Amino acid sequence: MSPLSSPHHVFSVSALLFVFLFHLFTTTTYAAASSSSSPSPSSQTLKMDAEYMINPKVPPKALSSSKKFEGSSNLVNLRYHMGPVLSSSPINIYLIWYGLWSPSHKLLIKDFILSLSPSAKAPSPSVSDWWRTLSLYTDQTGANVSRTVLIAGEYSDYKYSHGNQLTRLSIQQVIATAVKSAPFPVDHRNGVYLVLSAQDVVVQDFCRAVCGFHYFTFPSMVGYTLPYAWVGNSAKQCPEVCAYPFALPAYMAGGGPGALRPPNKDVGVDGMISVIGHELAELSSNPLVNAWYAGEDPTAPTEIGDLCEGLYGTGGGGGYIGQVMRDREGRTYNMNGRNGRKFLVQWIWSPILKACAGPNALD
Ligand SMILES: *[C@@H]1O[C@H](CO)[C@@H](O)[C@H](O)[C@H]1NC(C)=O
Repeated sequence: MSPLSSPHHVFSVSALLFVFLFHLFTTTTYAAASSSSSPSPSSQTLKMDAEYMINPKVPPKALSSSKKFEGSSNLVNLRYHMGPVLSSSPINIYLIWYGLWSPSHKLLIKDFILSLSPSAKAPSPSVSDWWRTLSLYTDQTGANVSRTVLIAGEYSDYKYSHGNQLTRLSIQQVIATAVKSAPFPVDHRNGVYLVLSAQDVVVQDFCRAVCGFHYFTFPSMVGYTLPYAWVGNSAKQCPEVCAYPFALPAYMAGGGPGALRPPNKDVGVDGMISVIGHELAELSSNPLVNAWYAGEDPTAPTEIGDLCEGLYGTGGGGGYIGQVMRDREGRTYNMNGRNGRKFLVQWIWSPILKACAGPNALD
């Protein structure tokens, strides 16, 4: 997500919205309803007991639709602008938990971040396979983005040191507070900050224009320049925008099949994880906003996550998220992480394939 992206609401395709997940939910309905009236073949019912592939049709996300380029496109002109990428290994993430966070939510997010490195043991398709696409991005010296990502420090700002309404600039003050209190070392070579705000924290432009963003700190605010990203928990504020596709726009509510079931049973945090992936991918390939992006305007760059928003598997586009997996409990995911975790994370643009790429690709 670029720092200055504008809101973009597309509701014109609502006519298409009511048919998504059709065959899956009819299967569920048939299983629950009296079997006498149901023409459902037994093989469909049997599939409910096993993990299988789905390509559900869901309404487009009500944000950034204008930036979507599903699949490959010759129109996408992702270019390198001579700046650095995060090539020092490992990438050291300093986590700042802003507001009240439950230990289980923290563990879930940390499991995702710690799944990015190749040393995380997870079955294919894995989160580290997904991050491997990042290592295809280089700087002008030929140095690749690091494949290893660690959590180097954590700070819990559970007293909301800067209140429960943050602006883009006050997020830098939150970082400054954490740096003074933690204390985090000044990790100029490998460090990045990731600020995660709790569900009751209102952030400037959250929901209206962004679900997360990345930028770099200013010497006048934090004391030095380091890349950082912010992602908010949207569970209570705008899940239909920022926890897509686990929540759907309000005009969808009440009728028809619901949203997809999140892999870890938490709409807010499962939705947040894909946004964290998006921001970490862009932060690593464009940390000072002068490396990899498309478009001519550096104040509104289209970056490698923006290009693939809403796309999670092969055959995505036009309201389909692509082929993803569904487990025995009906939970949707497209990659595995450490500790047996499953995640649903959007794809990212590959500079080699010149298309969106992910580990669950069928071809
Ligand atoms: C580094 O990036 C180049 C260019 O995308 C790629 O060909 C190469 O395989 C990458 N190296 C590693 C170690 O990922």
